Amino acid sequence: MTTFLSGIQPSGYLHLGNYFGAIRPHIRASEQPGEHFYFIADFHSLTTVRDPELLRTLVHEVAVTYLALGLDPERATFWRQSDVPEVTEIAWMLGCMSGMGLLERAHSYKDKLNAGIKPNVGLFYYPVLMAADILAYDADVVPVGKDQVQHVEMTQDMAGYFNNTFGKEGEPVFRRPEFRLEDKAHFAKVPGLDGRKMSKSYNNGIWIFESGKKLKKAVNKIPTDSRPPEEPKEPDELVVFDLLALFLADDELADWKAKVRAGGEGAPGYGHLKMRLVAAIEEHFADARVRREELLADPSELDRLLARGAEKARARAQVVRDRALKACGLR
Ligand code: ADP
Ligand code: TRP
Repeated sequence: MTTFLSGIQPSGYLHLGNYFGAIRPHIRASEQPGEHFYFIADFHSLTTVRDPELLRTLVHEVAVTYLALGLDPERATFWRQSDVPEVTEIAWMLGCMSGMGLLERAHSYKDKLNAGIKPNVGLFYYPVLMAADILAYDADVVPVGKDQVQHVEMTQDMAGYFNNTFGKEGEPVFRRPEFRLEDKAHFAKVPGLDGRKMSKSYNNGIWIFESGKKLKKAVNKIPTDSRPPEEPKEPDELVVFDLLALFLADDELADWKAKVRAGGEGAPGYGHLKMRLVAAIEEHFADARVRREELLADPSELDRLLARGAEKARARAQVVRDRALKACGLR
């Protein structure tokens, strides 16, 4: 049986990029035959979040978001990373087998250095903890966004070093995982309100559950120009179409594009296109928004559910941790 596993950091309110690039692929993967493990990577968020109340709120928010969007906790084990301390033990063992060079090559780390962030040790060590997250559950397939692929490849390397050092013939200590990418490009890189990649670091996101006036205000920020509706335009050059493409059925999208290309009387203006986008977002998340409110109303049920998930996850990680301890002589 194939084991699927993935995680997401609770380091901000989740936006449409997180939804199309990570959350929806995770939930869809969890509907396939196999075993499923999804977790909230709160240890990872400690590399950036410095406000304990906020971190607690964000963990709840991520949990509610996944459940409201349809993750079935009966099908998928769903838990909080820090409830399984075994991953930090596995991370230490992996780190001792990995060269500094492997970590120094990590794009996400280098990007942060280039952005002028003064790195803490946790940020540098981040891929080792992520490798432990994956290997602790004997995962086969890791559905991730594009920016996480290198981290899964590093996991393969770390598992390889450990297995080469301590594995016996035909009896590896850690199972080698493979990544799985969302295959449609427009879901893999959702643009933000300023046309750059949507990201919490750019403050250009639309929160998944945004609605009403706030949603309108956000969508209004999408850059446009002063060309009138009648002037023919190339829709593929407009950010508003990149976002519409996420929500509209193919034939409706093609119809809007044709009208914009043709221009003239009856061609939609930017305001009209933005109104369609607002309505599409409202509609897409309408049911989930209701479920979110219900879940928020009962935080103790949420805690119970995460605790149940943690118990299952922990039992599994303990087996792998023990295997690794034994293999390297710590037992
Ligand atoms: P952010 O860029 O907002 O800090 P994260 O790095 O925490 O987001 O990403 C969490 C997950 O969401 C990752 O799997 C990442 O690939 C995915 N993701 C983030 N932004 C986008 C985007 N604009 N388009 C598609 N996927 C995204
Ligand atoms: N680094 C991932 C992100 O930022 C979150 C994560 C932590 C993860 N551990 C993982 C994803 C293990 C997949 C598997 O999105």
